[in-house]
Amino acid sequence: MKARVEELRRLIRHHNRLYYVLDQPEISDAEYDGFFDELVRLEQEHPELATPDSPTQRVGAPPLEKFGTLGHRVPMLSLGKTNTEEGFLDFHRRIRELSQVPDEQVAYVVEPKFDGLAVELIYENGVLVQGSTRGDGYTGEQVTENLRTIKTIPLRLLETDLGIPTLMEVRGEVIINKSDFQRLNRRRAEAGESPFANPRNAAAGSVRQLDSKITASRPLSMFAYSVGVVEGRQYKTHYQIMEDLKILGFRVNKYTQLCHRAEKAIEYYGQMLQRRDRLDYEMDGIVIKVNDLGLQERLGELQRSPRWAIAWKFPAQQETTVVRDIWVNVGRTGALTPVAILEPVRVGGVTISRATLHNEDEVRRKDVRVGDTVIVQRAGEVIPEVVAVVKSKRKGRPRKFVMPTHCPICGAPAVRVAGEVATRCTGLSCPAQLKENVFHFAGKWAMDMDGLGYKLIEQLVDRGMITDPSDLYYLTKEDLLKLERMGDKLAQNVLEAVQGSKRPSLPRLILALGIRNVGGHLATVLAREFGTVERLREASCEELMAVREIGPVVADSIRAFFNNDKNLEVLNKLRWAGVEFPVYQKAAGAQPLASQTFVLTGGLSTLTREQAKALIEKAGGRVASSVSANTDVVVVGENPGSKLDKARALGIKTMGEEEFKKLVEV
Ligand code: IVH
Repeated sequence: MKARVEELRRLIRHHNRLYYVLDQPEISDAEYDGFFDELVRLEQEHPELATPDSPTQRVGAPPLEKFGTLGHRVPMLSLGKTNTEEGFLDFHRRIRELSQVPDEQVAYVVEPKFDGLAVELIYENGVLVQGSTRGDGYTGEQVTENLRTIKTIPLRLLETDLGIPTLMEVRGEVIINKSDFQRLNRRRAEAGESPFANPRNAAAGSVRQLDSKITASRPLSMFAYSVGVVEGRQYKTHYQIMEDLKILGFRVNKYTQLCHRAEKAIEYYGQMLQRRDRLDYEMDGIVIKVNDLGLQERLGELQRSPRWAIAWKFPAQQETTVVRDIWVNVGRTGALTPVAILEPVRVGGVTISRATLHNEDEVRRKDVRVGDTVIVQRAGEVIPEVVAVVKSKRKGRPRKFVMPTHCPICGAPAVRVAGEVATRCTGLSCPAQLKENVFHFAGKWAMDMDGLGYKLIEQLVDRGMITDPSDLYYLTKEDLLKLERMGDKLAQNVLEAVQGSKRPSLPRLILALGIRNVGGHLATVLAREFGTVERLREASCEELMAVREIGPVVADSIRAFFNNDKNLEVLNKLRWAGVEFPVYQKAAGAQPLASQTFVLTGGLSTLTREQAKALIEKAGGRVASSVSANTDVVVVGENPGSKLDKARALGIKTMGEEEFKKLVEV
């Protein structure tokens, strides 16, 4: 029993790391849940086997009255900042002068500057015993129970060749991903709670909850970026620390890089600035740290920040401007969205002239009126939004915004269903909804019909040439030539883009259907879990909700979509037009076995040892000749040797030939 409990913990830790830290899950959510449920059951039946570092212990403890405080053995300093390249070059010059090393010899580690909440975790003999916030840098709040609920924080360090450090203080930033933040705020708005202003506030607010069950319900994550006191481990460079943190089970940012020259750090800044909008977490700049720990020590500290590191900030993502007008947009699902028309302003390097106000409640809560000075922000690819009104600048008494009672596009009544925040147009053939739907269908992340812009779709809808997205495939060149500003060449390009989109991947096809609440990520999850559109269509609410990321709201929207005859007709029309409905394929070149160590024992009947080895390596894994605590899987063929006994003794996963072949997909 004890052995099974330990094996389950090992498996869960291993798969947690693959899923949350490396982002390369290897087993289905259902299999994972199977392990987890079994462990919960065994621990309940045998309370003597429960330990505080078990992966089941992330659910939250009873609420506290108030937080205790905890002193940091090594102060958690802040960083000197610059906004310019000159500022960084000044820093570099100072380092060279103080260290008296020639240019070539100052190596830096460059990494993103995360915008979240700094925390410290203390591990004694590999077990997480305490966690705290940065606080004033010297004393923080003790939030151990809350940090324990975060899946990217190991409750116990992974065993390594170097053993386990006796004491290790790990520092990092707790964040919420942009997409999770949007979802969290949507849920809060639906529940009538006030939304968080930005992911950083959401992360900080979630960590500083007296009831850790609330923290457990928030999608928090942590990037590790430095250490405090460490005993039982020696490091020479910051880069070594980061590598070791990875091995010990922490999430270390993949853009952490070693730069041997200052110019490389400047290049890195430019690359990260470009990448900023595409990443799902917020960065407000980069951090440049001297790599050599000896040199760091010689350089020492100023008042509140070290001389050996600097934050080079990105341009602000928030600015103030004036609201010229408030319009109402009608979206794909018929939702009426108030939009602020702005005095154009540059935010984070891009000019914006409109920003979403989300819905009626949000306009009321923020009390945005025409003529107001407002703070607007851009966060990634998310549409710019109005964050708040600068009330002190309001002139006179502008009128309050009222939501129209009718759709501004088709004139049908607009209603707000009880319990929902959105006001929706009830017009069954509302052209605004259709345009948005078709635009979504043809979009880059869906069927990817390059060149099918909004203007063109607008004309097609307004002239009645399409009444649903599948009609795009039935357009002829003659049809297109009837449109404004349409020449032979352009018409040909449009036709090719449409016809060229007939072999989508399954996630793209599912996304393109425009099922309410199903965005890119869920489309991929659904594709992976159900394999075909047909299977998804047949799935019951219960089957849908058995998928970890799918709750009742999404399950209902999927059922509602497939219960609608009009949608089924569109699916048929797509098929008739020759659109392929594929079976889910894992991405080519994926490395599902990355960083896993395999050992082969016994003979396989359909593969030579060399072939098996090549397959493992192709999938990113490694093959070792003997079984040790570092082995992840032992593949067992006929007449296995003592390796199998050793694997069993160590509780290491074993698999037969068939399972192995499935894993490497032959
Ligand atoms: S290193 C002395 N690395 O920035 C070294 N800090 O202004 C200080 N931060 O409170 C920490 N990303 O919350 C470091 N990659 C990174 C960081 C980072 C964000 C935050 C951290 C700290 C603040 C310092």
